[in-house]
Amino acid sequence: MFVFDPYSPQVDADPFPFYKTLRDEHPCYFSESAKTWILSRYEDIANACSDWKTYTSSKGNLMDELPNRAGGTLGTTDPPRHDQMRACIQHAFSRRSIDGLSGPIAASATAAMDDVLEKKSFDFVTEVSTRVTIDVLFTLLSLPRENERMVRDNAVLAVQTDPVTRRKEPEHVAAFQWLQDYAKAILEERRRNPGDDLLSHFQAAEVEGQRLTDREVLLTTVTLILAGIESLSGFMTMFALNLSDHPQARAQLVANPALTADAVEESLRFNTSAQRFRRCLTRDVELHGQLMKAGDFVCLAYGSGNRDERRFANPDVYDISRKPRGHLGFGSGVHTCIGTQIGRLATRILFETMLKRMPAYERVDRELKWMPSTTFRSPLRLELRAV
Ligand code: HEM
Repeated sequence: MFVFDPYSPQVDADPFPFYKTLRDEHPCYFSESAKTWILSRYEDIANACSDWKTYTSSKGNLMDELPNRAGGTLGTTDPPRHDQMRACIQHAFSRRSIDGLSGPIAASATAAMDDVLEKKSFDFVTEVSTRVTIDVLFTLLSLPRENERMVRDNAVLAVQTDPVTRRKEPEHVAAFQWLQDYAKAILEERRRNPGDDLLSHFQAAEVEGQRLTDREVLLTTVTLILAGIESLSGFMTMFALNLSDHPQARAQLVANPALTADAVEESLRFNTSAQRFRRCLTRDVELHGQLMKAGDFVCLAYGSGNRDERRFANPDVYDISRKPRGHLGFGSGVHTCIGTQIGRLATRILFETMLKRMPAYERVDRELKWMPSTTFRSPLRLELRAV
């Protein structure tokens, strides 16, 4: 009997054969282990994303939600409050030019490459993707550098589940609490001494004469840190993996770096880090002969929708000239990622820099150890060497 268990190491290692069976034979499937319906076809996922009144985010959007997040931050609220919150952030983002990050990203990528090029092999996760991501995020939010290792370690831990029990354990909740305490102290300091930085503008922003509550500002700041670190570094790592497994595509990028932006889009479609998010039903819905009841949780398997042959021709082929319009790598609808511009810019600059310095590389280990998470998918280590 077919079983899709989002907690199983087999799904961590290679979800795609499972996704195919789900799409073809069980397009509306109830996972006993996750107590969640799984939608795997592109069209069903896109429809759910645009019908936020039925598929609410207000009960949380992570597959294994952290306590106290639901209803308080961008990814866990519905319109109209969600849109007001999003407008506040967008206002703060627009006060700082995202393009102004290009220089710091290039400097960070160059420094990371300087350090790894001398080595026989290196871990792309700690030495490149996480390092560059931390530089980007700390620059974006103007965070002091002294606590960066703690911020990184706690952000990475908070989005994981225990590798054995596959549940959120007290250590994951404590990591999330640490991030809240950290963000609270930063926000209090910015309130006392506001500057021309994103968090100061965000706290002060008003939409229709209304400010956000302290809880909303706090949880959204933590979300920016969590989403910024895990989604971005995880995606960069998956991109490096895709290019090591597809040397021809990598050679095309070396010959023509202008194709890097297209390759980023194809990687977001083909094999992204942000695989599955969750919604909750506000009413009964019948789909593909199954009755999902009000109050049931529903998983939107973006990683599966991106491989749906009903939407993309030859979906299992990694084709950097594809231009996959409408892919779900950043989600869809009102909750489409707010960091799309930063994610695209940082990844493109990192790989343009890297491939100039290291045009050919291979992975050292064939077997990878995957992060235990039901939402995100990326290897814990990716040992690479230049060839
Ligand atoms: C390439 C890197 C990234 C990927 C693949 C990615 C992916 C995603 C996805 C799939 C969602 C939708 C979640 C849902 O449907 O519930 C999302 C939402 C979000 N992302 Fe990203 N993300 C990336 C980078 C970033 C960055 C750099 C930031 C912040 C600086 C960020 C902040 C957010 C926030 C705040 C949301 C919630 C948006 C809302 O609900 O309105 N992301 N991201």
